[in-house]
Amino acid sequence: MFRKKMIAGNWKMNGLLKDGVCLAKDIAEATKKIKKPACKILVCPPFTLLTTVKKALRGSVVELGAQDCALAPKGAHTGDISPEMLKDAGCSYVILGHSERRTDHAEISKTVRHKAEAAYRAGLKVIICVGETEEQRNSGDAFDVCRRQVRASLPAKATSTNTVIAYEPVWAIGTGKTPTPADVQEMHEEIRIAVASKIGKRNAYNMHILYGGSMKPSNAEELLKLKDVDGGLIGGASLKAADFMDIIKLTSKK
Ligand code: PGA
Repeated sequence: MFRKKMIAGNWKMNGLLKDGVCLAKDIAEATKKIKKPACKILVCPPFTLLTTVKKALRGSVVELGAQDCALAPKGAHTGDISPEMLKDAGCSYVILGHSERRTDHAEISKTVRHKAEAAYRAGLKVIICVGETEEQRNSGDAFDVCRRQVRASLPAKATSTNTVIAYEPVWAIGTGKTPTPADVQEMHEEIRIAVASKIGKRNAYNMHILYGGSMKPSNAEELLKLKDVDGGLIGGASLKAADFMDIIKLTSKK
């Protein structure tokens, strides 16, 4: 079986209770109308909305994810949320190593790897984000940067079942800019090779590699049809149910 596409919404630090419930309900209702969605669907709201969004998604195929987790299962870590707590709140996934966390919280790939191990311990799957800055792309270092991030962020226990990679060029996030489809395909191929070198060819072949960075209904079709693009991690466009649904519907186009 070839990799089924995955469309994940990263809500980031957006949504008060009533907005989040509304958005989740709209997505849940809309997905119920699609007989058999061609892709796996996930929404990742902020921590404060997890349990209410979980309720709003009840009866739909939409899964729940969080945007970060701590290392320890519990204890004296003021302000942190453990992967066990996320599992308890109904999450099946957690996004790790998003460039905004790497920048705002100085997270390095080693931390991301340890967080991924903590997430597996709690029975969560992880979406590990990698991507180069504009400077790194312009100086010709994009492949090296992403290869290094993949190798250092992936735990030895990672498999195609417990881990997804998201390639998110930092300069494309929230900017409206995207790499050309050829550049995206080339990077996804390189990432797959880096995954193979760390956890073997079979895991690399089966691993979902999502593209993220200004994906929207108008550019999703050409990105999603690329051979090594197995879906999208969507920020801005995931905050409007109609746009998110339009992207989901594109995955059923051959
Ligand atoms: P964007 O964000 O779609 O708003 O560019 C994507 C992401 O950061 O996950």
